[in-house]
Amino acid sequence: MEPITFIELAKLLISFAILAPSGHNSQPWQFQVADNEIIITPDFSKRLDVVDGNDRELFISLGCAAENLMTAARHYGYDSHYVFNDGKIIVTFSKQDVCNDDPLFDAIPKRHTHRGKFTGAKIPENLLQNIPANILQDVDNDDNASVMICNSESREAEMIKQKITEGNIIQMTDTAFKRELISWMRFNKKHVNETRNGLCYNVLGFPATPKPIGRRIIGMFLNPKAQNKTDNAVNASVSHFCVFCVKDDNAKNWVALGVFLERFLLKITSEGIAYSFSNQPCEIPSLKDQLRQNLNLTSYPSVVIRLGYGNEPKAIAPREEVVVKGCEG
Ligand SMILES: Cc1cc2nc3c(=O)[nH]c(=O)nc-3n(C[C@H](O)[C@H](O)[C@H](O)COP(=O)(O)O)c2cc1C
Repeated sequence: MEPITFIELAKLLISFAILAPSGHNSQPWQFQVADNEIIITPDFSKRLDVVDGNDRELFISLGCAAENLMTAARHYGYDSHYVFNDGKIIVTFSKQDVCNDDPLFDAIPKRHTHRGKFTGAKIPENLLQNIPANILQDVDNDDNASVMICNSESREAEMIKQKITEGNIIQMTDTAFKRELISWMRFNKKHVNETRNGLCYNVLGFPATPKPIGRRIIGMFLNPKAQNKTDNAVNASVSHFCVFCVKDDNAKNWVALGVFLERFLLKITSEGIAYSFSNQPCEIPSLKDQLRQNLNLTSYPSVVIRLGYGNEPKAIAPREEVVVKGCEG
């Protein structure tokens, strides 16, 4: 690569950071560039007050964005590390002599949250079980984040499915939850282009509709019976479930979890494995406690994902254009 200024590099790296997953595709991040640093700060105007009242998913999303920054930096010949301080992630970069070919870099634009049923094919056990240890070697984690992986026929998987069902009953009878969810739905192309965020009709596989009609139709489908029918069908096609946990429930650990989670997602993407989130059991405090007890976890469950093999996405979730502070003009 031709030599470029740090500002140019930072803009390039940030274009990869924003491809990270985020709760409801809220993209709750802001970026600032300083000398050899990129600072990621939360955008609390994107907070999901109802589903994520303590900002756990928000900080996990920021950690995912930080991991993309660091993976992209390695590709362009920069070493990097992050610290979490005063509610911000500060990523520092130093130039290395070599650029590294890394399948995880190639996976950044390919990673996406799978929607709908998986094919039902099983992932070889030995492929999955080695991934966490390999990743933990690479990320600066201090054992703050961990993952439990279980086969879909295991006792643990039955427990997780049960909590997903109970989570749907609670969330789909909660008017505030449904109102917030609908406020992040995008019902047609114009609506998508107005915001470039949120849960979009084409990504979810719905036909385009005018906003008021879309809201009415979605409202009819947001009930426990319909949601559990959908989730039961997906869960029956899953190969494995993963429960990502933190040692302590605090923002520093949530960021560490985001870094770990995104590296895991990039790794499985590079192996051709698909995944979807099913985070209801971690979003409802009583279910989270029960999941922790029933799975004999010493740490705190924070993210549940389902693994399998899938089909190409119908559409990719859009991203907002980012204004980078320190790079204006
Ligand atoms: C912490 C976190 C929690 C999430 N929880 C859910 C969830 O419970 N259900 C779901 O369908 N998607 C969930 N998502 C996925 C987002 O909806 C998805 O990342 C976003 O729409 C962007 O799409 P992409 O991942 O395909 O880029 C979650 C994402 C994150 C980072």
